Amino acid sequence: MQVLPIRLVPDPVLRRKAKRVRGLDGPTQRLIDEMIETMRDAYGVGLAAPQVGKLWRIIVIELPGEEVKTLINPEVVKKGGERVVEEGCLSIPGYRGEIKRSVSVTAKGYNRQGKEIRLRGKELLAQALEHEIDHLNGVLYIDYLESPDKLYKIHWEQAGL
Ligand code: NI
Repeated sequence: MQVLPIRLVPDPVLRRKAKRVRGLDGPTQRLIDEMIETMRDAYGVGLAAPQVGKLWRIIVIELPGEEVKTLINPEVVKKGGERVVEEGCLSIPGYRGEIKRSVSVTAKGYNRQGKEIRLRGKELLAQALEHEIDHLNGVLYIDYLESPDKLYKIHWEQAGL
């Protein structure tokens, strides 16, 4: 397995819409393995395929102490509540920003065996689901900043999405 280079803003690939995955063949399984490896190498809690330059609708999420979750062709089916969060992104190193996210999110999609699954998450998992699914549509958290002073420069890397 290989750690892939993470695309950084303003790479245009981050602004494109990813395509639906049609089959879970060998190259797709390999990409998923490499995304997990790349996320761990960067100490991230989530990664979307466009962040490694692949325009496929695949996300991986690994919260501290939990098993890795892979969601293919994910869609948000339900969300509730609103909260202010501080968010970062592996494609925007050195910054964090204050935005609003849902408190709870239910997403559906397929796991890497091709089985349809639903993931229901609160707080950090809900935030990660929204953040990673946004990546598949070319949306970045900085798009939600209410004003430029809600974006902070940080001096060390914290867990990014
Ligand atoms: Ni991100």
